Amino acid sequence: MNLEQVLAAKNNKTIYHHEDMVVKVFNKNHPKSSILNEALNQALVEETGLKIPNIRSVSNIEGQWSISMDYIPGQTLEQKLKENPEKASELLELFVDLQIDMHSKTAPLLNKLKDKLVRKIQSVKDLNDTTKYELLTQLDSMPKHTKVCHGDFLPSNIIINDTGAYILDWSHATQGNASADVATTYLKLSLYFPDLADAYLKLFCQKSNTSLKYVQQWFPIVAAQQLTTASEAEVEFLNKWLDVIDYQG
Ligand SMILES: Nc1ncnc2c1ncn2[C@@H]1O[C@H](COP(=O)(O)OP(=O)(O)O)[C@@H](O)[C@H]1O
Ligand SMILES: [Mg+2]
Repeated sequence: MNLEQVLAAKNNKTIYHHEDMVVKVFNKNHPKSSILNEALNQALVEETGLKIPNIRSVSNIEGQWSISMDYIPGQTLEQKLKENPEKASELLELFVDLQIDMHSKTAPLLNKLKDKLVRKIQSVKDLNDTTKYELLTQLDSMPKHTKVCHGDFLPSNIIINDTGAYILDWSHATQGNASADVATTYLKLSLYFPDLADAYLKLFCQKSNTSLKYVQQWFPIVAAQQLTTASEAEVEFLNKWLDVIDYQG
């Protein structure tokens, strides 16, 4: 296969457009289990009927793993937001509707979000045991749901074309409480689309009839989770959200 058109180059993988496919080629040191988990998540979500790129194959060529899937023509929502700032509220509405629709689906074989959060919180290096205990206690008290959660629901992971909106990038997908997924989107938007974050959260709460306080209870938990992979610049921001737990009671 002659892979030429690079769609995106990240530190651990390169994403190519080849004929009617996208091929995600991972670096040699990327864990095999994480690549197979991403492909399995995507295959499980395909079965829900959501519009997503279907997996074509998972392969290993000369020690390098790759995932091939349908190429979805169109623009990412991130590109659309950058090119058409005057349409921000219309695009935000589409973004929220799409996330609510995704949360209406179930995929019982996906990993459980709560298990993942417990594991991540336990593994954060710069967090003392008391804070970890408080976070885990709070997590345990949160209602347990089984909704499809994306884990990285952001404008860069959505492609829009004439046939609709497609959700990409299922590497962090789990099943669990939708408000945790929303809290994750909110924290990431606050970092990278600060102008949109508050409007996003307000709109989600309105449209899904969820109380803002309920989503906010997830902030320290998902901030701690994000700490496991955060850059130095992100750590300071995330630590601010962790402090919230001190006065929540
Ligand atoms: N199936 C696809 N069809 C079209 N473009 C894609 C597809 N998959 C990925 N891309 C493009 O590549 C970018 C990165 O892919 P993504 O799966 O989100 O990887 P990452 O985990 O690095 O964010 C996307 O934002 C999108 O622009
Ligand atoms: Mg992505």
